[in-house]
Amino acid sequence: MTEASFDAPVEIGAEDYFETAEPLVSDVREATHDFEVMVETHESPAILKSSEAEEVAAKPQKHLGANGSSSKGALAIVLILMTLFAQGHGALQQGFYKGKCGRKNVEQVIYNAVRAKFRKDHTLVAAFLRMQFHDCFVRGCEASLLLDGPNSEKTAGANGSVRGFEIIDSVKAVLEKLCPGVVSCADIIVIATRVTVFLAGGRWYQVQTGRRDGLISRASDVNLPGPTIPVSDAVQLFNNKGFTAEEMVLLLGGHTVGVTHCSFVTDRLYDFQNTGRADQSMSPSLLASLRKTCPLNSPTDSPIALDQNPRSVNTVDNSFYKQIVARRGVLQIDQQLALDSQTKAIVQNLANATDFGTRFGRAMAKLSTVGVLTGNQGEIRRSCRSVN
Ligand code: HEM
Repeated sequence: MTEASFDAPVEIGAEDYFETAEPLVSDVREATHDFEVMVETHESPAILKSSEAEEVAAKPQKHLGANGSSSKGALAIVLILMTLFAQGHGALQQGFYKGKCGRKNVEQVIYNAVRAKFRKDHTLVAAFLRMQFHDCFVRGCEASLLLDGPNSEKTAGANGSVRGFEIIDSVKAVLEKLCPGVVSCADIIVIATRVTVFLAGGRWYQVQTGRRDGLISRASDVNLPGPTIPVSDAVQLFNNKGFTAEEMVLLLGGHTVGVTHCSFVTDRLYDFQNTGRADQSMSPSLLASLRKTCPLNSPTDSPIALDQNPRSVNTVDNSFYKQIVARRGVLQIDQQLALDSQTKAIVQNLANATDFGTRFGRAMAKLSTVGVLTGNQGEIRRSCRSVN
């Protein structure tokens, strides 16, 4: 596909819009948010910013001599060594692909390709959010989830309903034509997710790039949480990956879009924890409605919106928290977030918050740094479905 076949926004020409993570003005007009939303910058806490790197580099300066010029020289050497060290080991950076794909702007190419798909299917945001979570929590954000194979991660039960793989394939195909072997599948997942979050009403957030693709994908590595996980276990699991309880609650805000299925909630509707009755924490009106959608012993596994606000099913906003405060959480873990002493104050806060989009974006950016491969690690796959 050539660039001309992209639905290119009018102001293209300024090459680095996307490398600096600022979307195009034309898209801004289209979107329902204001422009300030998008130019706001967020830090990715796990990564050293250049200003912090300088600060760190400046510290040994004191010990390098009383003379100003020699300490300046020493500082310069330390900075050079740090840069070389960072390059050798690789590190995520803002705009990693700048100048690496001819004159094409990689993030803009992905934006345009994903936007075209999103316009036809707004549920793509749910698909990608879940995909990023399931990729990053198993072996890190290195696209092991995308590999095909008899016992690869995607064959694991927990990944059975993960979707959107063919959209990643089509974005990858476009990039391989423009600049073969340059853009990793792991970066495509992260950038594509960010695009859909924004298009679905969330805030633009900065993501760093330079991830490499993993070589291993095993179903036996998949140890993702199920919907009945107790809150304290979930907090522990997220802590182990470097997240606070608040960040966990924010990430579970991903359930503001998308669907689950009757099979995940039937126990809550008819025989909660072998009590022979429904989960008492569910609001009676939701119980009645879900029993209609999911009759006992029905052969069909119908979908149910995770956010029970019918006006917000595909919108990234804080409505999910309002619903769970009102006891209208569909998954057990979602409802428990609003009731458990470890998380209920956080949920209350988010239900009333005006800055959910910003905070969610920050949490997503942090999720995108979990266990990444960089530098010489892994590879850049030619096809996201198989190692080279
Ligand atoms: C304790 C943590 C979590 C548990 C137990 C959990 C569980 C689930 C379950 C059971 C489903 C329904 C699957 C189905 O019916 O097919 C689901 C869907 C979903 N999850 Fe989670 N999840 C968790 C965390 C997250 C996180 C951190 C995100 C994103 C940041 C996320 C995003 C989604 C989305 C968007 C869907 C809907 C997918 C679609 O419509 O295709 N989840 N989750």
